[in-house]
Amino acid sequence: MSLIVDSFGRKVEYLRLSVTDRCDFRCVYCMTENPCFLPREHVLHLEELAWIAQAFTELGVTKIRLTGGEPLVRTDCDQLVSLLGKLPGLNDLSMTTNGSRLSKFAKPMRDAGLKRLNISLDTLNPELFTQLTRNGKLERVIEGIDAAIAAGFERIKINAVILKEQNDHEVLDLVDFCRERGLDIAFIEEMPLGEMDERKRARHCSSDEVKSIIDTRYPLQLSNKRTGGPARYYTMADSHIHIGFISPHSHNFCHECNRVRVTVEGQLLLCLGNEHAIDLKSIVREYPGDIERLKAAILAGINLKPKQHYFDNNEVQILRFMNATGG
Ligand code: 5AD
Ligand code: SF4
Repeated sequence: MSLIVDSFGRKVEYLRLSVTDRCDFRCVYCMTENPCFLPREHVLHLEELAWIAQAFTELGVTKIRLTGGEPLVRTDCDQLVSLLGKLPGLNDLSMTTNGSRLSKFAKPMRDAGLKRLNISLDTLNPELFTQLTRNGKLERVIEGIDAAIAAGFERIKINAVILKEQNDHEVLDLVDFCRERGLDIAFIEEMPLGEMDERKRARHCSSDEVKSIIDTRYPLQLSNKRTGGPARYYTMADSHIHIGFISPHSHNFCHECNRVRVTVEGQLLLCLGNEHAIDLKSIVREYPGDIERLKAAILAGINLKPKQHYFDNNEVQILRFMNATGG
C-alpha cells in the first residue's frame, strides 16, 4: 500500500523516471532540430537513479517506467535495469523507447528484469518516418520491435502520435500492424509543449477523430482496462489487442492520477501540466545514499500535486520539452 498520498487522497504507485534527455532521433513534436542537451554532470548518475527508485519503492511505489529522451542511448542502462529489477516491492518495471537500439538490447533488457515496453512508431512509411524523426530509420525500428517480440516481454505497446495531414491517413495501417503482431497500441494527441505556433495548432488531431477512423473498419468496444493514467482503452471483436487513446486535452482522469515523474535532472514533478517541482538531485548529491532523507522529501513534496492540469488555458504554457520531462 503506497504511503505517498496527496492532499486530494490520491495514492501514488507509479513513477516515471527519466534517465537521459539525449536521443538519437529529433521527433518534430518532441525536440527542436538542434536541441541543447544537458551537460553530463547535471544528469543523475546510475547510483543516484537507483537511490531515488529505492526511496519510491520503500514508500510503496510498485511500478516504475524508465523514459528519456531515449533510455537506451545511456550506456549503463542495462546496469540500471539490473539494479532496479532487484528492488523488493517493484512488480512492474517498464521502458518507453524509440526502438532504434532494440534489436541489440531487447533480449539483455528482458533478461535483466524489464517486463514491458512502449515503443514509439508514428508511421509505416520510411520517408515519412525519417521526416517526422528528422533522422530515424524505420527499418531499424521494425527490426527492434520484432526483436522485442522474440525476447518475450509481458506486454508491448506501440505509441503513435497522430498529426493532421502528416500521418492521419495511416491510422488503420498502424492498427493492422499491431493486430498482426499482437501488440497493443495507444494513439496520442500531440501535447502543447515548447513554444506553440499556428503550425502546431493546425496539425492537432483529436482522439475522437482517430477513433472514428478506426470504427469504420473495426467497431471499438470500451474496455474496463485502466492504468491510472490518461488513456482510455478499447477492444475489437476479433482481436486480443487493446487500442488506447491518450487525450491530454481532456481533464477527465486527473482525479485518479496515480503517477509522478522524476526528470533527468532529478526534479520530482507532480504533474506534467504544471511547473511545481521538488529538487531531489540536491539531496542525493549532498547526502549520497541517504534513503530516509529522500523519502521525507518525497512525502513532504507530494502535497504540491495539483488537482488537475489546464493545457487549454492559454495563460499557462509549459515550456519544458518532452525529452527533459520523460513524457
Ligand atoms: N505530445 C505527445 N506525445 C509526445 N511524445 C513526445 N513528445 C510528445 C508531445 N509533444 C511521446 C512520443 C513517445 C513518448 C516518449 O512521448 O511519441 O511515444
Ligand atoms: Fe527521441 Fe522519443 Fe523525443 Fe522522438 S519522442 S525525439 S524518439 S525522445
